[in-house]
Amino acid sequence: MKSILIYGAGGHAKAVIDVIEKAGECRVTGLLDRIKPPGTNVYGYQVLGNENDLAVDESVQGLIVAIGDNWLRAEVAMAIRSIRPDLPFITAIHPNASVARGAEIGEGSVVMAGAVVNSDTRIGKHCILYTLASVDHDSSVGDFVSFAPHAATGGGVSIGAYTALGIGAKIIHSVSIGEHTVVGAGANVLSPIADYSVAYGTPAREIRARKAGERYL
Ligand SMILES: CC(C)(COP(=O)(O)OP(=O)(O)OC[C@H]1O[C@@H](n2cnc3c(N)ncnc32)[C@H](O)[C@@H]1OP(=O)(O)O)[C@@H](O)C(=O)NCCC(=O)NCCS
Repeated sequence: MKSILIYGAGGHAKAVIDVIEKAGECRVTGLLDRIKPPGTNVYGYQVLGNENDLAVDESVQGLIVAIGDNWLRAEVAMAIRSIRPDLPFITAIHPNASVARGAEIGEGSVVMAGAVVNSDTRIGKHCILYTLASVDHDSSVGDFVSFAPHAATGGGVSIGAYTALGIGAKIIHSVSIGEHTVVGAGANVLSPIADYSVAYGTPAREIRARKAGERYL
């Protein structure tokens, strides 16, 4: 069984710990965090330090970044990659998630309970599919994307990197959503949404522009 570290010690990290424990393929040896001090305990796992401590830890065999914000998760993943280019990012897939034939899940991604990735869909690196999220067949999801609980797409959808779909957002088949975009909670997306925008409503409209890294949670 692989010995891994989890980066993050907040609410999202607790959900990721649960997925990893239930999947039963990796053994968590500890947590890393920039804010919570060493010794902080989360579900029996201790914060051991931050990413700089990875440079000297030869025993770790894998890592996952458990930060909910897409931009912050990317910053940390890139920092870790430059400190330890050799260290694999693991994927965490809940045993009650469904990943269909031909589907691919990129390194560092998390698929939570009840989530569905349907046939021949590609999920990028470091994505999060929260509880009961669903990505239907032949879709393409960029790196660092998040689907909040119950967000769902039809088939043949394309979603750009760093985009966040809010809770219960629905995207009809064959629609493209740009990168660095936020689709609001409960939106019904019937037509394409541009890069760097905030869109919501039924039907969803682009309400305003946003910049890369702008907070949305
Ligand atoms: C889309 C979103 C980011 C917009 O945030 P914002 O730009 O800060 O918007 P505000 O909160 O300032 O609201 C501005 C107006 O838009 C409305 N609005 C905001 N989000 C909306 C949504 N999803 N659907 C419909 N109307 C919405 C507000 O009610 C407000 O209306 P008002 O001016 O008549 O009072 C946010 O509301 C949202 O939906 N986030 C997703 C949250 C989520 O899914 N969390 C789960 C994470 S796991």
